[in-house]
Amino acid sequence: MYEIAGLGHKTALERTEAMLRKVQIADPGRVMDRYPHQLSGGMAQRAVIAMALAASPSLLILDEPTTALDATVEAEVLDLVAALRREFDTSVLFISHNLAVIAKMCDRVGVLYAGELVEEGPARQVFDDPRHPYTVGLLRCIPRRGQRKDRDRLDTIPGFLPAPGHSLSGCVFAPRCALVQDRCRSESPPFFDVGDLRTARCFYHEQAPELPRATPSSVPALATDGIGGPLVEVEGLSKTFAGGVQALAGVDLAVHRGETLGLVGESGSGKTTLARVLLGLTAPDQGSVVTLEGKPLNADARRRPREILRALQIVFQNPDSALNRRHTVRSLISRPLTRLAGLSGTALRDRLEELIASVRLEDRHLALRPGQLSGGLKQRVAIARAFGARPDVVVCDEPTSALDVSVQAAILNLLADLQQQEHATYLFISHDLGLVRYLSDRIVVLYLGRVMEVGPAETVFTGPHHPYTEALFSAVPSLDGQRPDRIRLQGEIPSAADPPGGCVFHTRCPRRLSTGICESTEPPLLEEEPGHLIRCHIPITELRQLQLNEPAPSQGGSA
Ligand SMILES: Nc1ncnc2c1ncn2[C@@H]1O[C@H](COP(=O)(O)OP(=O)(O)O)[C@@H](O)[C@H]1O
Ligand code: SF4
Ligand code: SF4
Ligand SMILES: [Mg+2]
Repeated sequence: MYEIAGLGHKTALERTEAMLRKVQIADPGRVMDRYPHQLSGGMAQRAVIAMALAASPSLLILDEPTTALDATVEAEVLDLVAALRREFDTSVLFISHNLAVIAKMCDRVGVLYAGELVEEGPARQVFDDPRHPYTVGLLRCIPRRGQRKDRDRLDTIPGFLPAPGHSLSGCVFAPRCALVQDRCRSESPPFFDVGDLRTARCFYHEQAPELPRATPSSVPALATDGIGGPLVEVEGLSKTFAGGVQALAGVDLAVHRGETLGLVGESGSGKTTLARVLLGLTAPDQGSVVTLEGKPLNADARRRPREILRALQIVFQNPDSALNRRHTVRSLISRPLTRLAGLSGTALRDRLEELIASVRLEDRHLALRPGQLSGGLKQRVAIARAFGARPDVVVCDEPTSALDVSVQAAILNLLADLQQQEHATYLFISHDLGLVRYLSDRIVVLYLGRVMEVGPAETVFTGPHHPYTEALFSAVPSLDGQRPDRIRLQGEIPSAADPPGGCVFHTRCPRRLSTGICESTEPPLLEEEPGHLIRCHIPITELRQLQLNEPAPSQGGSA
């Protein structure tokens, strides 16, 4: 960038190093010689921001700059953007589908639908009191204000975005709008002034806050008997990959019948490896014990009896990996019904119909192949497949992270309904803590392959929490206002090939003790309250005091 701007090679290199320092890349001199694939996601994003700033722009456009990052790294990148914006006095156009990130970063927000700006105004006001039916609908798709699966269902937005190039007369949102009137179909609404420097492009913006729900909020009656005893248990579960990468290090946990166990932790903490071990797709180290209803599971799925294959199913983040592109939706959903549940004839047809209705697919989808379906529809097929043979446990590994919020809401509702009706048990993995809170009964927090905390969902969320959990939660921006005492983790998760000694979290822990014990001794995972286990040298009573009274120092170490 600097050479393009006409600077000599040497000056350009100096400026580059200075700019990398400004975007807080550690050791910029060495980083300069690396290739992009040798950088972590957070570092690569800093390097790109440095490139953009090198041209001294008066407007910096950030297009989903943190979408692929963990909440902890996202928080650091967002802090950086805010600081650079002040320092360089640059205007920022921040594009994101994450409404909470927009709420945190932006003064004003514009809501775009099908290529048209439908609402605009100060971010806080728009999110607290939206005036366009599309904005109202979007905000209702996201679990917030303590919503939980046992009390509420999320709202959804019916229908789909119009195909690009499809021209509509009248309001672009009319085909999906519950407030639509004849006028909306023929006349395109202008921008209405809705006060406070706000505009909304809707004839009926005054009624927008009362938009009727597309999905009832009521929860179906519990068809079964709540949460039972342990169904899947792992003991001393370790997994070491080639090169000494210890993805899991002695994990003990149980998933109870009928519950959702939420599994959280930054990328690289071992979540997917744990899921793959349960499914028999990755063999654990010698000595690890994995049981289903007390019976040991073969480490290799190909050697597991059909009954076990039926009992344990997975929904992956990317449905493509589970769906053979050559098969139709009908055959994709039917196969596990014949092979695992032994259905045929009318029983097969009935179950197929029941399944496609419950995942809200339509008959016309049955003849299509995966290539003809949107991401949301493919994920519904994958869910129908996973649930077809009435599994006992479904592992969901980031099942909605590739989907937009409306489809995500429909899928979360579906998972919650299926659990209520069929007594399904879930291990729900997600980096989105809002989703985990909505869906989980209990939560496990994983860091570098170790369980740092486990407990009932609301207990873990409200605290006292493990210092790592505290940092994870405070990194997540919220739509309902930011928490004032945010603490920051420094840097990124250390390599699993060379984990720190003592407490593995000590290199980043904002509450590390000054006595040296954190560096020397690994704390045990102790039950501090009934069902609530924490792995930390600080006793829970002290954690409670610390977390109530003082924000943790933002640098590691409290000495
Ligand atoms: N097949 C593999 N070979 C070598 N290392 C792996 C493999 N799969 C995962 N890992 C490593 O194991 C650790 C945990 O990864 P993973 O289970 O994917 O974490 P998460 O799902 O929490 O992001 C990471 O350090 C990752 O690089
Ligand atoms: S103009 Fe009509 S269709 Fe468009 S958003 Fe408003 S009420 Fe709905
Ligand atoms: S043991 Fe020490 S380093 Fe580990 S989480 Fe607790 S305070 Fe932090
Ligand atoms: Mg993963």
